[in-house]
Parts: sequence; structure tokens; C-alpha cells
Amino acid sequence: MSPDVVINCAAKTAVDACETDREGAFAVNATGVRFLVGAARSARVIHLSSDYVFDGSKTEPYLEDDPVAPLSVYGASKAAGEKELRSEVDLLVRSSWVMSASAGNIASVIRTLFARDAPLSFVIDQVGTPTLADDLASRVVALMEADASGTIHVANSGETSWWGLARRFGAALGCDPERVLAIDSTQAAGKYPAPRPRYSALGSKVLDRWGLEPLRSWEDAVEAIVSEWNQG
Ligand SMILES: NC(=O)c1ccc[n+]([C@@H]2O[C@H](COP(=O)([O-])OP(=O)(O)OC[C@H]3O[C@@H](n4cnc5c(N)ncnc54)[C@H](OP(=O)(O)O)[C@@H]3O)[C@@H](O)[C@H]2O)c1
Repeated sequence: MSPDVVINCAAKTAVDACETDREGAFAVNATGVRFLVGAARSARVIHLSSDYVFDGSKTEPYLEDDPVAPLSVYGASKAAGEKELRSEVDLLVRSSWVMSASAGNIASVIRTLFARDAPLSFVIDQVGTPTLADDLASRVVALMEADASGTIHVANSGETSWWGLARRFGAALGCDPERVLAIDSTQAAGKYPAPRPRYSALGSKVLDRWGLEPLRSWEDAVEAIVSEWNQG
């Protein structure tokens, strides 16, 4: 087998569990990438990374050449993995807050909570860019077809907090968004021990280079998910 392109979506992604398994996080997210790049030989590697490589000190979207300064073990392991790529050949795709109509991600969690007659609490002091997995996948394919290399941020347009995202899903589901209570990160720290950036929206300054337009808004991505649910 001699592929032209290897797309690496494998990672240890349990952000909070990584805090107590630094070795495991770095083995998969950093050393694993080194092995993969070595095994890829002449194949181009397209590797997925995360907004959690940033520390959240910015107040406007992070661009591709902003310095990484991870707060968490997960973020540090992903930042270490990024360094294993061959910048002139491979493509580093950073994305954020990935969601889809499938089970097992933030969208289905919010949907389930709205379906229950219980209060919902989401943090208001972490702001980022929710991104539809389908949009991310389409863009990765477009970048592969363009033979893109270097670093690019791929996220839906705009920004919101987890609280804002939950409210938007509530409205799209025909539920009362006022049910979503705003809490801050310190109130959620017991459940989510890993430090997360207060601000990690992603922007891109290299879209033009690859002939790409910005992705649709995160609000439209929420509508797309709910529409898929409604179609059964
Ligand atoms: N989800 C997000 O919000 C988000 C945001 C930004 C970036 N990303 C990045 O996007 C990529 C995909 O994330 P995801 O959310 O799809 O993660 P995910 O649902 O946790 O999937 C990760 C995959 O990696 C596999 N994997 C883990 N350890 C492995 C190992 N040692 N060897 C081989 N495969 C292994 C897992 O296989 P098993 O299921 O068999 O364990 C799983 O299929 C990751 O690089 C992540 O850092 C995700």
C-alpha cells in the first residue's frame, strides 16, 4: 500500500482524563504522530489539531501564526504533535468544538438535556467556534484536492460560549432557551478539571491561498444538525 495522502483523526481526546494521564496523552497525540509521519514516507499527512493549543488570552480569533501556549495536558500533547509534521509537505488543520447530528458529541448532549425536564447549566466564560463535522470534513477534502500544506484553521464562522450554543440549540429545537442557566468555569471545575481557554475562536488568514471562502456560520450549522434530526 502506498497512499498519496494520510488523514490522521486519531487522538486521545478525553481532555479531562489527559490531566491524570500525561504519558498516555503524549504517547498518542505526539509520539503517535511522529510514528505516523515516519510511516507515511512520501505520502502527505493531513493532521487534525485543536483550538486548545492556545491559552485564550486573545480577544479576537486566533490565526494560524499565533503562538501556541496550551493550558491543559491535552492541549500540550496536541501542540507537541503539531511539531512532528513536515511543514513544507504536510497539512495541519486546527478545528474547534466539533459537533454533528450523530450521538456522542455536544449536540446530542444538549438535545438529551432539553428532552428531560431538568435545568441545564453551561459555562458562559469560555468562548469559541462550534464547528459542524460535515463542514470540517468537506473542507479537509477540498484542501487535500488543492494539495495544501502548512497550517490552516477550519471552523464555522462566528463565536459563542457553551451557554450560547446550548441556547441556540434550544431555540432550534422549539424549546425554551431561557432554561439554560449560565455558570462560570469555576463552578464547573469539579466536573471538568482540565483548564480550558477562556477564548479560542479560530479565524484564518490563509483561506485565499487555497481558493476557499469562510465556512457558514455556527448558527447555520446548528440549524443543519436540528434539520437532520427532524428528518429522522
Ligand atoms: N471533537 C472536537 O471538538 C475537536 C476539536 C478540535 C480538534 N479535534 C481533533 O480532531 C481529531 C478527531 O477528534 P474526535 O473528536 O473525532 O475524537 P474521538 O471521537 O475521540 O476519536 C478519536 C479516534 O482516535 C482513535 N484512537 C485513539 N487512540 C488511538 C490509538 N492509540 N491508536 C489508534 N487510534 C486511536 C479512537 O479509536 P477508538 O474509538 O477505537 O478508541 C477514535 O476513533 C483529533 O485529532 C482531535 O484532537 C477535535
